[in-house]
Amino acid sequence: MDAGPLPYYPINDFGPAMKGMVIGGLGIFHVFIAQFAIGGGMLMCYFQWLAMTGRVPLARKFLDGFFKFLVLVSFVVGALTGVGMWFTTIQISPRTIGMMVDEFHWIWATEWTFFCLEIVAGYTFYRYGSILTDKARLALLGLYSVAAWGSLFWINGILSWQLTPGDWIGSGSLAAGFFNPSFFPSLIFRTIVSMTIAGLAACVVVNLMLELSREEKTTLIQRAARFLMPMVLMPIVGLWFFSVLPEDSRDWVMGGSVAMTMFMTIAVGTSMLIGLYALVGLIGQRLYINGATASLLCALAFAATAGGEFVREGVRKPYTVRQALYSNSLTGEDVARLRQVGSVTHDPYPLENASQYPNEQLKLGAKVFRMQCSVCHTMSATNGLTHLTGTWTMEQKRLNIAQLQRTKSFMPPFAGTPEELEALVQLVTWEHADRPTSWPVSTDTDVLNRIQQWLDDVGTESGLKPGRLLAEAG
Ligand code: HEC
Repeated sequence: MDAGPLPYYPINDFGPAMKGMVIGGLGIFHVFIAQFAIGGGMLMCYFQWLAMTGRVPLARKFLDGFFKFLVLVSFVVGALTGVGMWFTTIQISPRTIGMMVDEFHWIWATEWTFFCLEIVAGYTFYRYGSILTDKARLALLGLYSVAAWGSLFWINGILSWQLTPGDWIGSGSLAAGFFNPSFFPSLIFRTIVSMTIAGLAACVVVNLMLELSREEKTTLIQRAARFLMPMVLMPIVGLWFFSVLPEDSRDWVMGGSVAMTMFMTIAVGTSMLIGLYALVGLIGQRLYINGATASLLCALAFAATAGGEFVREGVRKPYTVRQALYSNSLTGEDVARLRQVGSVTHDPYPLENASQYPNEQLKLGAKVFRMQCSVCHTMSATNGLTHLTGTWTMEQKRLNIAQLQRTKSFMPPFAGTPEELEALVQLVTWEHADRPTSWPVSTDTDVLNRIQQWLDDVGTESGLKPGRLLAEAG
């Protein structure tokens, strides 16, 4: 049965913050900045064209002003937070990253090539733009935009594959994984978002250009506001995206999970506010967005991004790669095997502050918690197990954890032995009792037999299996 130990990695503990949230928080910031860098490039291209064709000569002033500095900062910070993403994910979910690199080796390489090009073109424009000819400027900005959007194109295939791997499951085909069902809706959606963020940021910047008259500002703002027009497509592209999501993911957003629904509402509500404001203004033909309003709209766009990314990460549960890898870095086969050999039997990494636990059973429980639960739960803080199980009897804890995928279908099945499960239950109870200095060891074989029975009853399949859901409904 034992096909060798799992790949164990040292897992960092981020204290009261849930591990998944640490990645999510950084991710939201990264995505916002990176999307601005993409849309910003496109907007500069457009303004360069307006200036050199004589349509809006004034656009040149905008281009050589503060905005290009903002784009420079955004791709530098985008790169830094991107590295930060790697740095945090290898501490939290190294196996997910491993799988992504494994499956998409050359795609990553291509993506990095585009990113390099983006940096070189962007920096060259920033440094030498003012002494170049108009044609060279346009070419450079064009190159920057294509490269920046191209890096989105490549990374989008990998991120959307995590959510909807499509025919890659089964065939393992790279093309099927990359051009998966949510590839195009999410690419188009992100492109629209990039343009929106850039348009709004441009409105803020124009307002800051004190040397311009009111008419001049209006001219530039009306041009920048054109970047908000694609927002009218958002509802359609959004619905397209939702139509390709697996049914269970859709259900959580539509009320199945309070948090998911709330964040979804934030994302949709804020986007609608921005869209309505832009639309009404544009149709009214006398749009002027002042500095305060533009900043507020930017903040709303950030909230929309945060809500959207939270939902995108959240609806993937219990997987990091749907149907292939659970959020706690275990595969379906691992679950079945670890039920026999134990999930932490071969885990070589010592516990932090092991001496605080009064007995070996609690130490075992702490390792099981770290391995299987800590990516989504803390013990007593965010999504804390002591709160969630606070009113449960010992038997309820045992049953509900043994049948974790049935308790909440967005949790992976429990992947360990009855001894490990009992150790985890003891740990949660000990923590809930405020960590007394001595604690009895639970050794009742009847208890272990009952747990084994519950584990066998529920099986090792994900709670999302359509067959099981149907059986329950019927
Ligand atoms: C993929 C993320 C994820 C993993 C891994 C995970 N959980 Fe959960 N769990 C959740 C979420 C999300 C909730 C819902 C919290 C809420 O309702 O506020 C939850 C709820 C719970 C609840 C309360 C259920 C209820 O009906 O009220 C318990 C108990 C629990 N988890 C235990 C565990 C244990 C023990 C592990 C590890 C063996 C684990 N979870 C692993 C995400 C996860």
